Amino acid sequence: MKILLLGSGGLLGRYLASELAGHTLTAQAHQDTDISDASRLDQLFAQPWDAVINAAAVCDFDACEKDPAGTGRINREAPLDLARRCAAQDALFVQYSSDYVFGGADDRLLSEAESPHPLSVYGGQKADLEALIPSACPRSLILRVSWLYGLGGKTFMSRLPDLLSAQTSLRTAAGKKGCSLYAGHGALWTRQLVEAGQTGLLNLVNPGVTSWEEFAGETLTQMTSLGLAPKCRDLTEVPYEKLGPGWAKRPRYSSLDGAQLAATFPPGPTAWREALGEFLFAWKSVAAPQTV
Ligand SMILES: NC(=O)c1ccc[n+]([C@@H]2O[C@H](COP(=O)([O-])OP(=O)(O)OC[C@H]3O[C@@H](n4cnc5c(N)ncnc54)[C@H](OP(=O)(O)O)[C@@H]3O)[C@@H](O)[C@H]2O)c1
Repeated sequence: MKILLLGSGGLLGRYLASELAGHTLTAQAHQDTDISDASRLDQLFAQPWDAVINAAAVCDFDACEKDPAGTGRINREAPLDLARRCAAQDALFVQYSSDYVFGGADDRLLSEAESPHPLSVYGGQKADLEALIPSACPRSLILRVSWLYGLGGKTFMSRLPDLLSAQTSLRTAAGKKGCSLYAGHGALWTRQLVEAGQTGLLNLVNPGVTSWEEFAGETLTQMTSLGLAPKCRDLTEVPYEKLGPGWAKRPRYSSLDGAQLAATFPPGPTAWREALGEFLFAWKSVAAPQTV
């Protein structure tokens, strides 16, 4: 397939670029293409694509709160423009959404049928995409992901192995429940779904509900089992809503139900503890501090 990947320099984008290497892939990082630059998109869309995958976004939660209009041009207007351009070519358009479309009141698994109720600007931008993309581009696939982590990522979960290796104690946000997704699996499943021509809205997570404090504890346990000798001896839990003004707008409960994906493509993604193990194995080979 002839595939255009936007945002290929980000966490998920880098895994996608490697996962899609078997296709005729044009991978564009931020410095190659700004997705809000219409004239640059005119150039790229002068040729036909089988699929266009948008992994570009402003994921900085506080930046979205401070500048809804500026971040909205990238998180809302640009993906809608991409969707329309894909519709004009009958290309499949793939966009990522987030568990932050939910308000966090429901301590249960949330299926694709649940109505979004975002508390934040970032969550609102994603909810708008979920509502507007299907009519802008009938051949669209919206993948709702959450708590992404992987090599080189900036997210807390991505940085955990480095933090636990370097520090004797670590504070973790506590009290939020949700699901995680190893970016390697996010890329793998995106490729499989694109190859299958899947459309619609799908939750894509490593199944199993967890919390940041449990995820940090499990990372510490698995690092020890793998002989990675983490320095950290003390994990301190801080109620997440006390971490700063924006934190209360992050949903307390936002566990995505992966049952639909598992039923469509059995057995579906790997459970979260095994996925974390895969990440740590990869981290061990490329990023772990060398012991003499
Ligand atoms: N990370 C998570 O936990 C999480 C959770 C739920 C949903 N998601 C969604 O999953 C998708 C992938 O996220 P990620 O974690 O891979 O994010 P990421 O690591 O922050 O990568 C996003 C990429 O988009 C680029 N970008 C920003 N503005 C751009 C623009 N105007 N034009 C082109 N590229 C631009 C960024 O470049 P610069 O670094 O140069 O700005 C960065 O390389 C996003 O849609 C995100 O909203 C992520």
